[in-house]
Amino acid sequence: MKNSEEIVENYIFDEFPGERYPTFTRGEGMYLFDDQGNKFIDTTCGPVTNSLGHGLPDFGIFLEKQMKNLAFLHRGYGHTPILKETCQKLCNLTHDEMSKALLVCGGSEAVEVAIKMARMYHIYNNNLTKTLIIGRWQSYHGNTMITLSAGGFVKRRAAFIPYLHNTSHIPPAYCYRCWFNKEPNSCNLECAQALEDEILGQGHENVSAFIAEPISGTGLCAAVPREDYFKRVREICDKYDILLIYDEIISGSGRTGKWFGYEHFKTPPDILVLGKGLAGGYFPAGAIMSSLKIYNKIADVQGVLPAGYTWANNPMVATVISKTIDYYQKHNLIANVENMGKYMFDEVKKIQKEHPTMGDVRGKGLLMGIEFVRDKTTKETIDHPLIAPPTVGRPNAFHLQLKKEAKKNHLLLLAHSGCAKGIYDGDMIMLGPYFRVNKEQIDEILSIFEKSLYNTEKEHGFI
Ligand SMILES: Cc1ncc(COP(=O)(O)O)c(C=O)c1O
Repeated sequence: MKNSEEIVENYIFDEFPGERYPTFTRGEGMYLFDDQGNKFIDTTCGPVTNSLGHGLPDFGIFLEKQMKNLAFLHRGYGHTPILKETCQKLCNLTHDEMSKALLVCGGSEAVEVAIKMARMYHIYNNNLTKTLIIGRWQSYHGNTMITLSAGGFVKRRAAFIPYLHNTSHIPPAYCYRCWFNKEPNSCNLECAQALEDEILGQGHENVSAFIAEPISGTGLCAAVPREDYFKRVREICDKYDILLIYDEIISGSGRTGKWFGYEHFKTPPDILVLGKGLAGGYFPAGAIMSSLKIYNKIADVQGVLPAGYTWANNPMVATVISKTIDYYQKHNLIANVENMGKYMFDEVKKIQKEHPTMGDVRGKGLLMGIEFVRDKTTKETIDHPLIAPPTVGRPNAFHLQLKKEAKKNHLLLLAHSGCAKGIYDGDMIMLGPYFRVNKEQIDEILSIFEKSLYNTEKEHGFI
């Protein structure tokens, strides 16, 4: 057994080799405890995964029961009662706008299936040339090659460009730094119109699907499009028989104060992808849901969706998803997300007034992004890094220093860069506490956040 002194000599291949990582031994609600007896606050639960908070004993009991009964069944052999129950619950939550569900063990896997599902729909619809996936810059859809290709997360793509697949991208719906230099109250939804332009440029007969996060995840930290953006996108997709895929791996499963982020825009997709908080953080989970139109197109010709993974539709993931939904409902947690989200937003807005670098505060429910700038009026970013290879980074970047400072104060933050285009330009963090959070805990988070921000601003010469 290793103790904390030997952390750098352990056998783990870390994401950042050479960095010192604490060893966490226990979790309780939004708190994590390390083997030195230190208590940390997990401000994004995971990121955005452990929505139920740590340490709920019930899930162990549910899993044990299912494991003893039937731990694994290959999806090709048949169904399990828990799988039927879970898929039905998921579809009912969409008011049956999504009529079928397939369960997998993670977000990237789910997006992969969604892309293949779109392809199979077009094949069985006799549109064999419809293959291209259009995504958006500054989006993120996963870390496998096709999902990385569909996403527009420049920093994560950079090293792997030689391996990426043929996809295309349009500008994001990013009102704070609109790529068209417009304001949301007077624009013509140029960011949505860009989709039609791209479709026409590529040839509509070659385009399979458009994929987007209804509310941005890590790429733009909770950027929210104009309310009618997806209605326009939907019209464009329908006009050219292009499927609309929502990646709700972050914005779904209650995170924004509604079951699904798309409800804010009253525009359902053809394919809905879920993950992360879908299983409350108690099991690796993902789901792909589809409208009947897609399922029937394949079923009518006795076709196939050749996108199975060995652990797809396994009873363990089904159990945890089903019990997570029950827990959310029994404890009225989605309403708590909405209420606490409003409280957190108001409190962060107050802090924003006091701090010269807090340029933008955005998001919905308990999904919040904060963007930092040198000048609130011009929105100039804090530093303009020269073009650097993706492996270099900028360790003294504002968001990284804030993250480090917060960690010193035992607050775990999710910090990102690249919102002002490119790999590193722009600094932001995302806040996404667990769904059982209360006002006192939000105050606790924000008081440490503010102290850490104050120190970081001081270090960067802002105060
Ligand atoms: C919007 C979005 N899509 C896809 C993924 C990939 O999910 P996973 O990391 O579970 O493979 C993520 C993960 O952060 C995500 O935020």
